[in-house]
Amino acid sequence: HDVGVVAVGFSGGQPKPGVDAAPMALIEAGLIKELENDLDMKVAFDGQVHNYAELLPAEDPEYRGMKRPKFVSAVTKTVSDQVYNYAKDGKLVLTLGGDHSIAMGTISGTAKAVRERLGREIAVIWVDAHADINTPETSDSGNIHGMPVSFLTGLAKEDREDCFGWLKPEHMLSTKKLVYIGLRDIDRGEKKILRDHGIKAFSMHDVDRHGIGKVMDMALGWIGSDTPIHLSFDIDALDPMWAPSTGTAVRGGLTLREGDFIAECVAETGSLIALDLVEVNPSLDEVGASDTIRAGNSIIRCALGDTLL
Ligand code: ARG
Ligand code: MN
Ligand code: MN
Ligand code: MN
Repeated sequence: HDVGVVAVGFSGGQPKPGVDAAPMALIEAGLIKELENDLDMKVAFDGQVHNYAELLPAEDPEYRGMKRPKFVSAVTKTVSDQVYNYAKDGKLVLTLGGDHSIAMGTISGTAKAVRERLGREIAVIWVDAHADINTPETSDSGNIHGMPVSFLTGLAKEDREDCFGWLKPEHMLSTKKLVYIGLRDIDRGEKKILRDHGIKAFSMHDVDRHGIGKVMDMALGWIGSDTPIHLSFDIDALDPMWAPSTGTAVRGGLTLREGDFIAECVAETGSLIALDLVEVNPSLDEVGASDTIRAGNSIIRCALGDTLL
């Protein structure tokens, strides 16, 4: 398989520095070599962790309660083009974050490429403790990493080009083609959005009730076979026991094996077209940073087809 790697050293969607260092940490732990040598993949990578400093606006006041709206908008627009450029050639795109706001770039990029190449809509599997579907108005924090899904699905709308107005219909995702796994910290306004739009979500309660095997059968059944899948994996979906180094850790999460299992099941479909691995922050809980990085790389290897036997 041909893989294109985009390394996004970006932390502007939330307040804690350090998540920008994750791409380098994942790569230094051997990720790209493993993909090439162990998984026989042809990896295209420009060798750079982008920090997008050239996009930093002179001033960036809050707008509709969003923090750093112009910077996040400019970065995600650029990421969208980077991802699109790999996806339009049929490459599987691996994006290393960065905070989860960057999914506005990655998902819009694959959605556009797949529409053009195949005339089809993508499905998204969003693995996370959080739903990241706040609108600017429902968000308590103003942190844009809690909002990407609302902009991608058109639930949040904005005309200003420099504040996500660059997202056009070809970039968008249907709420019917979105499935969540691992949820356990959902804001009040988000619960209403999930309910009102009938969005498919498997919380930790569902994982406990049915087991991860059944949950994956139901999740993939909802999407339907032969639909291109974009997997957006927030490392905080895992329990902090396995992945403590992340900005918004929530206890009661997935085990390391459940995380890898989700990735393996998606790999088995043969329909994976893009993978995001986000929110690893090596500067938080430094003792646990190497575990968190290893967990991230393990999920990536599993999603890209590494099998146990
Ligand atoms: N719901 C909270 C907020 O909107 C937390 C979001 C956490 N998101 C993340 N990508 N880790 O601020
Ligand atoms: Mn999260
Ligand atoms: Mn909350
Ligand atoms: Mn997230």
